[in-house]
Amino acid sequence: MGIEIEKGCVELSKVATSETHGEDSPYFAGWKAYDEDPYHECTNPSGVIQMGLAENQVSFDLIEKYLEENSETGTWGKGASGFRENALFQDYHGLESFRKAMASFMEQIREGRAKFDPSRIVLTAGATAANELLTFIIANPGDALLVPTPYYPGFDRDLRWRTGVNIVPIHCDSSNNFQITPQALEAAYKEAEAMNIKVKGVLITNPSNPLGATIQRKVLEEILDFVTLKNIHLVSDEIYSGSVFSSSEFISIAEILEARNYKNAERVHIVYSLSKDLGLPGFRVGTIYSYNDKVVTTARRMSSFTLISSQTQHLLASMLSDKKFTKNYIKTNRERLRKRYTMIIEGLRNAGIECLEGNAGLFCWMNLSPLLVLENKATREGELKLWNETLNEIKLNISPGSSCHCSEPGWFRVCFANMSEETLELALKRIRHFMEKRRTRTEKLY
Ligand SMILES: Cc1ncc(COP(=O)(O)O)c(C=O)c1O
Repeated sequence: MGIEIEKGCVELSKVATSETHGEDSPYFAGWKAYDEDPYHECTNPSGVIQMGLAENQVSFDLIEKYLEENSETGTWGKGASGFRENALFQDYHGLESFRKAMASFMEQIREGRAKFDPSRIVLTAGATAANELLTFIIANPGDALLVPTPYYPGFDRDLRWRTGVNIVPIHCDSSNNFQITPQALEAAYKEAEAMNIKVKGVLITNPSNPLGATIQRKVLEEILDFVTLKNIHLVSDEIYSGSVFSSSEFISIAEILEARNYKNAERVHIVYSLSKDLGLPGFRVGTIYSYNDKVVTTARRMSSFTLISSQTQHLLASMLSDKKFTKNYIKTNRERLRKRYTMIIEGLRNAGIECLEGNAGLFCWMNLSPLLVLENKATREGELKLWNETLNEIKLNISPGSSCHCSEPGWFRVCFANMSEETLELALKRIRHFMEKRRTRTEKLY
């Protein structure tokens, strides 16, 4: 005899049924469209070109060459005694050799202008986990983090979904190149207060995703003053710190703290990962660097849920300890990213499109708002319609600004480092055709 269920279907938790994951955004819908019809130069030349994925493939050859020349690192790690050492229990501190190598790599990216103590490095499975762990540690469900807009769409999932924490936007706009101002910080704080929400911190991304630009020293100073005044935390996601085209243009929050003799440093936490600068998102390697002892201890405990495999740590400890390799990699990768950036900016300019002036990252922040204004559609709906057209008419997946919570319609993030130069040329050609067609259309309209 079957068991009769009393009522409805079996219930799931609030987290499981919550809408705060953000997966319904066009950011993820575009990935799906690409997955269903992916461009391939031979097998699907009219397919969708993926320009919505911030992946760095421009320097893979350097890593592949290193692995060929150091084949033992690709198996169990230089100096490791073999299979057993990798297979047996690893505690949540991670390998000391790897923490040292990470700290030193982070210093190298900043050309020695900041120091990192390996004992403060907490290892996590990517920056995704690092940002979530920090949110769990500094805020309670119902509290808020202030995040400047536009921001990386994944933050909706990472900061909100499982933690129950709110994101209150710090609205930035094109009038000052989307820079964060003391007024915008204060307005966001007041907005949270008006909603009776307790603000626990500010989270910045430096260099910014999606802007592809670094935050200026003066602005960092103002943000640090603001969080100190309000007695809240500051998380600085510096995942693109090694992807700044020229090292001198990046200032880490660590440098500001050093200049202030680490006064009030206990409220500051840095997030880093090897997903972007080394192009290894599949390896799942991230870190929290906190100046707060309690945060370090708690993050380490929590990292049990999101550890990095010993084999990956061994491999990367060897690779990142090879200073000749890292020095050449960082320099060459910067040069190649700059070349790609120049290529896309010039290509877009030839098509009549301007971008925000950038100096970092794997994308540019493209301004199509003049198109919307011309057609009297400068709204979020107008932007999404335009996004749909680029996806269906010229088969390009780019990310609409609204998926990054940008308050001004018409901006799009366009990634350029996850494809070959030939594919990028083709994408630019498709954009040129699109713009020519639009121009003819609007000329007919008026
Ligand atoms: C600003 C920012 N933070 C975090 C992440 C997540 O990185 P990871 O692959 O290390 O989890 C990304 C990925 O795009 C990002 O752009």
